[in-house]
Amino acid sequence: MVEFTLPRNSKVTEGKTWPSKPGAKNEREFRVYRWNPDDGNNPRVDVYKVDIDDCGPMVLDALIWIKSNIDATLTFRRSCREGVCGSCSMNIDGTNTLACTRGMDEIKGTVKIYPLPHMPVIKDLVPDLTQFYAQYASVEPWLKTETPTPQKEWRQSEDDRKKLDGLYECILCACCTTSCPSYWWNGDRYLGPAALLQAGRWLKDSRDEATGERLDFVEDPFRLYRCHTILNCSKACPKGLNPAKEIADIKKMMVERQV
Ligand code: SF4
Ligand code: SF4
Ligand code: FES
Repeated sequence: MVEFTLPRNSKVTEGKTWPSKPGAKNEREFRVYRWNPDDGNNPRVDVYKVDIDDCGPMVLDALIWIKSNIDATLTFRRSCREGVCGSCSMNIDGTNTLACTRGMDEIKGTVKIYPLPHMPVIKDLVPDLTQFYAQYASVEPWLKTETPTPQKEWRQSEDDRKKLDGLYECILCACCTTSCPSYWWNGDRYLGPAALLQAGRWLKDSRDEATGERLDFVEDPFRLYRCHTILNCSKACPKGLNPAKEIADIKKMMVERQV
């Protein structure tokens, strides 16, 4: 029987257990993935004890506390700290989510933190999202029109505007795309749920005049039809959006334009 093993340098080893901070009264344990491209070592998992009386209630607060009080080399992305910028997405307690909106009280026991899965890692909790953004750009996420630009603004009825609800709120955090098994295996050719949700956002915009061209672009056995309706994406979205439904709507538009 063929036996598969991971390459030696991809095995995650036990890292350093950092001591408690003197005087800490209410500690929680955090196990955090670490990898430094410059030291030639395997990835490791470091253990930190966080005094949760001394920091805010969210997982991001604990990471910032670790960086400020224990280990300044810990690397992660964050900006808005209120679920708007999408930069603090990571895998927490086995789920892709935003560190700034995941409360520590929602997690039992040790808090385990890894980068988003199935993406190359730049350092520690920072994934390389170059391909993800390129796929987003490939759906041309802007208004495309042929009629002359109006003097004041492109108008839209209230009902047409409502059709964009559940689409425009996407913050491009990549939690959905990196939870999708089809994307794990075919991420170089399958656009993935986030880019397809954005494709749908422009297909549904009443002001856009490139519907046929947009459908032509996604009509491809890999770009669109690698979605097998597994629904991980919709479960993962921290904004409560439903990319799987949007992908189904695009497939329906494909059928409708044939008849
Ligand atoms: S529904 Fe489609 S996009 Fe969502 S996780 Fe499943 S295969 Fe991926
Ligand atoms: S659909 Fe949700 S999970 Fe996916 S990128 Fe947008 S906000 Fe993130
Ligand atoms: S820091 Fe902006 S979404 Fe978490």
